[in-house]
Amino acid sequence: MTITSVEFVKSVVSIKEIPKENLQEIAISGRSNVGKSSLINCLLNRKKLAKTSSTPGKTRQLNYFRINNQFFLVDLPGYGFAKVAKSEMQQWRNLIESYIKTSRNLKGVVALIDSRIGPTPLDLQLLEWLSSLKMPMILVATKADKLSKGKLKSQVAACAKQVAPYYNKTIIPFSVTNGLGKAELWKEMLSLME
Ligand code: GTP
Ligand code: MG
Repeated sequence: MTITSVEFVKSVVSIKEIPKENLQEIAISGRSNVGKSSLINCLLNRKKLAKTSSTPGKTRQLNYFRINNQFFLVDLPGYGFAKVAKSEMQQWRNLIESYIKTSRNLKGVVALIDSRIGPTPLDLQLLEWLSSLKMPMILVATKADKLSKGKLKSQVAACAKQVAPYYNKTIIPFSVTNGLGKAELWKEMLSLME
């Protein structure tokens, strides 16, 4: 994938603010700290475009990036961060739910799962919900470099079993440190936007 331009467009905290431009979009979802912003930076060959942090819960808005003047990548706020108050969790849910239901140009969701942890109950809830909406999904197992090859394989296989009721395509192991999965993920994302 040749990236000719990347622009940060805006951060959105309410559905009324989503960009009016008629461009296709792909959203990146997953729990706090799973590696969403890092994955976006890796896909776009930028170091600090999407803010990353060792403090979970950093991204609280929908962050829109315009790529090649052709489509948006949308960095979604992470869920499941223990220190977040219930009311804020509810706010998150409302924002994401209305976004996913109202965004006419959303072509699919890249759902991230930590390869070491596997799908959490909230991950499974999200997948169940997306599949009930018939939203195309691409599942990615993040931080693959933190596992041995053998362990990664068994973790991904275990993950595939758990998500099978909602997702039966391949899970893409991904690492921002060595680029594993990058080409494959681009290919899958572009095929959603054809
Ligand atoms: P929120 O914005 O809080 O929802 O988190 P996020 O999902 O955007 O996670 P972020 O990209 O900020 O990454 C969290 C931490 O995981 C950072 O310290 C990253 O450096 C680290 N990380 C992300 N991806 C990888 C990876 O592939 N390998 C390794 N080793 N570390 C990673
Ligand atoms: Mg983030």
